[in-house]
Amino acid sequence: MVDTNTRHFQHLVDISKGEINREMFSDPDIYQQELKQIFARCWLFLGHVSQLPNENDFFTAYMGEDPVIVTRHSDGQLGAFLNMCRHRGNRVCRADSGNQRLFTCPFHGWTFANSGHLKTVPGYKQVYHEKLDMEAHGLIPVARIDDYKGMIFATFDENAPALDEYLGDMAWYLDMAIDRREGGIEFLPGTHKWRIKCNWKFPVDNFIGDSYHGPVSHGSAWEVGFEGMPRRKKGYGYEGFQINAGNGHGFGVRWAENEDQIYEMALPEFLSYEEERFPETHARLGDLRGMHLSPMHGSIFPNFSILWQSGNMRVWHPRGVGETEGWSWCFVDKKATPEHRDLVRVHDLQRHGTSGTWEQDDVDNWVQSTLSSRGYVGRQVKQNLSMGVEHEISDPKSIHPDMRGRIAGFQNEINQRQLYAQWARMMDGAAPNVSGANV
Ligand code: FES
Ligand SMILES: [Fe+2]
Repeated sequence: MVDTNTRHFQHLVDISKGEINREMFSDPDIYQQELKQIFARCWLFLGHVSQLPNENDFFTAYMGEDPVIVTRHSDGQLGAFLNMCRHRGNRVCRADSGNQRLFTCPFHGWTFANSGHLKTVPGYKQVYHEKLDMEAHGLIPVARIDDYKGMIFATFDENAPALDEYLGDMAWYLDMAIDRREGGIEFLPGTHKWRIKCNWKFPVDNFIGDSYHGPVSHGSAWEVGFEGMPRRKKGYGYEGFQINAGNGHGFGVRWAENEDQIYEMALPEFLSYEEERFPETHARLGDLRGMHLSPMHGSIFPNFSILWQSGNMRVWHPRGVGETEGWSWCFVDKKATPEHRDLVRVHDLQRHGTSGTWEQDDVDNWVQSTLSSRGYVGRQVKQNLSMGVEHEISDPKSIHPDMRGRIAGFQNEINQRQLYAQWARMMDGAAPNVSGANV
């Protein structure tokens, strides 16, 4: 249902032409609506259960611009709470992570349990005269928290669909990252964080479907030979698919006809591990997900992205209309050898760390594209997402009988168009699962 307090946003997005209005990258009012209609209503990625291995472990995160504490209670249950004291609103927990039963606000000392309950208040008898309602002043919990195979998501919307429904077909495809070996994945320790002077939607667009920029933006990184190249260079950039999984989620894949082609596409330093893990992945996920599809990049609406080949996941936290804070983690199969873990870590740092070769290329593009949306004249010119607008593949089953979602060739902006279609629907008040898999 359309919230009558909001502006109507569909007119900013023309999917049939592949055009969007650049105001969405620079208008502070639109940004405030995004916090309300998107970030306060979607399931947002918080982290991985491997970051909370023990009872009373916690880490801090963000949902939109709202800081949260994510906890594992002594009964093992996951919880997430607004990291905001109920007295003056001070941030209760300043640490990135740790192990605590209690959080004491550093302002006046109100103390909360990791279940959210307000436990003690200095001067409860003497200055509050035992009148303060302790039950009513606990930390504000998220409406719902859940995990999909260890991936923790939460939402502030009590009317949100179940997480499985929200992820839809994307969960099935996400298994290619998180369920390819027994035991799933874990995050390597540490979170990389950095600020980018760009609107948050540019990196989401880049990761969901921009296979187009690779050979140009990252051409110099490849040419100087700083990093290993897959052996299968011929035709690089044009073989594969963009897969839209519905609800604004999507990703890009290379296609392997057989096992040998997987190894041709592997980064040289990962080759021996690819050979080790392939039979197990194939047995678990079958031909389509376990062999043919080699996912490269993807985004889960609204602000969670994955780089499959590099073992990297990241969230794009909005920080005002013109600024974004990237949080990035390195992930590996739990069964990965110590040698492979270290190779993934080094590869990820060199390529996608805050000063990584590829990261610097990408960030500059997003900053410049944001800046061009600030000028009055530039803002009047539509942004173009028309690539392959009439060249989607009409029957995904013609590619493979198990294929789900809506697909197009590897160089096609279908995923960006569907990202902004979902953005417009939600900005106008629609529920996040209203698009289904094939709209
Ligand atoms: S703001 Fe937290 S105790 Fe006062
Ligand atoms: Fe890039």
